[in-house]
Amino acid sequence: MSKLIIEGARRLKGEIKIQGAKNSILPILAASLVTRAECVIHNCPMISDVETTLKILRHLGCGIKFDGNTIIVNSENICKNNIPNLLMREMRSSIIFLGALISSVGSAEISLPGGCELGPRPIDMHIEGLRQLGLRINEGHGILKCSNEGGLEGCNISLSFPSVGATENLIIASVRARGTTVLSNIAREPEIMDLVGFLNSCGAKIESPGEGTLIIEGVKNLHGTEHTIIPDRIAAVTYMSAAAVTVGDLFLKNVIKDHIGAVIPVFEEAGCTVETDIKNSLRIIAPTRPYFNRMIRTMPYPGFPTDAQAPVMAMSCLADGTSVFVENIFSNRYKHVGELLRLGADIKVEGRVAVVEGVKRLSGTEVAAMDLRGAAALVVAGLGAEGITKISGLSHIDRGYENLENNLESVGASIKRV
Ligand code: EPU
Repeated sequence: MSKLIIEGARRLKGEIKIQGAKNSILPILAASLVTRAECVIHNCPMISDVETTLKILRHLGCGIKFDGNTIIVNSENICKNNIPNLLMREMRSSIIFLGALISSVGSAEISLPGGCELGPRPIDMHIEGLRQLGLRINEGHGILKCSNEGGLEGCNISLSFPSVGATENLIIASVRARGTTVLSNIAREPEIMDLVGFLNSCGAKIESPGEGTLIIEGVKNLHGTEHTIIPDRIAAVTYMSAAAVTVGDLFLKNVIKDHIGAVIPVFEEAGCTVETDIKNSLRIIAPTRPYFNRMIRTMPYPGFPTDAQAPVMAMSCLADGTSVFVENIFSNRYKHVGELLRLGADIKVEGRVAVVEGVKRLSGTEVAAMDLRGAAALVVAGLGAEGITKISGLSHIDRGYENLENNLESVGASIKRV
């Protein structure tokens, strides 16, 4: 079993280029199925969730080529409509293939998706919306058999909660539906607008008249395109947290500051200087010890992102002050807390609320990552801790972070995988 060995309390200083966004590339790769043509996608992060997505695309009959961080998908010869259970279980975002297969080949047979265990992750909104578009869905023993004989029909769909995945599935499903689909109360995450930009560049007609609404006029066919994935805002926040616990000075290239608008003030209030006037980049300079007396409530975008909760909590563990986290998106997203306690943190959890009393020092020990962002939190804490931290459960990190240890090593961390 591999482990990350971090010798903490070293100052991070230097430059890191932020990878392309995991939560953009996954739905965009799935959506490329709808084009039945060649799509050239730049700035793809080389992470295991992308590998899983490519396995699914290959299984369905797509040709895949690489050129550095560019992936070329050719979906002309799709020959299947089913996805093996094992691939579906590897990640939550595999559910987006439901809308993509329906839009592309008119039917799909897939099992329920897996992904990080963050509490119950139902797909009722996906199913309900797709049914409203006219999809026939038979569900039994965890298998969904879906067909749209006669095609999907545009309609008005209002989501009961702005779910990211349901929004993506419904956008992809409706780009070739007959007539007009109006989606309201949709998720507004930047990754959604990246998907919309990709589909429009493939010939889709998607308009965004105002906050939380999309109007999709169905078109007969899409065509191939070339697209560049937006930067990964959560990777950026992870490195900012790492800087904050190491008296760091990091220059992060490939950052869209508006995408982390709810997070930057948190670092500023913690005493960090965040320079954002540099085009597509950001510099963070941390104080000797961050101070933190704050309430952080995770919310749908543009609120504070749930994916940033764990790395920012790791930062708050070492800060001067008390912070309160309220996790409003997922019911079980504090699995990193038990591991942070092993490192000497002072955190109390009651339901969706976690109270963190900052301590002066954490000290290294063996910890286990249990989900992707929790893993990132342990890396941040390990970098700030005295002594040696050994982190197991690295498959979680590899799902979402490209070159994490190389990036950190290049700015002065002592971190290696054994
Ligand atoms: N929900 C339902 N029913 C549904 C869909 C969602 O009850 O049909 C609930 C979920 O259980 C959850 C909440 O709605 O409590 C939000 O879920 P959402 O559908 O928005 O999340 P997701 O699409 O499953 C994506 C990201 C997550 C990120 C969330 C929230 C991808 C591949 N995943 O998940 O990313 O936390 O949106 O922003 O885009 C990560 O990157 O570590 C990660 C988990």
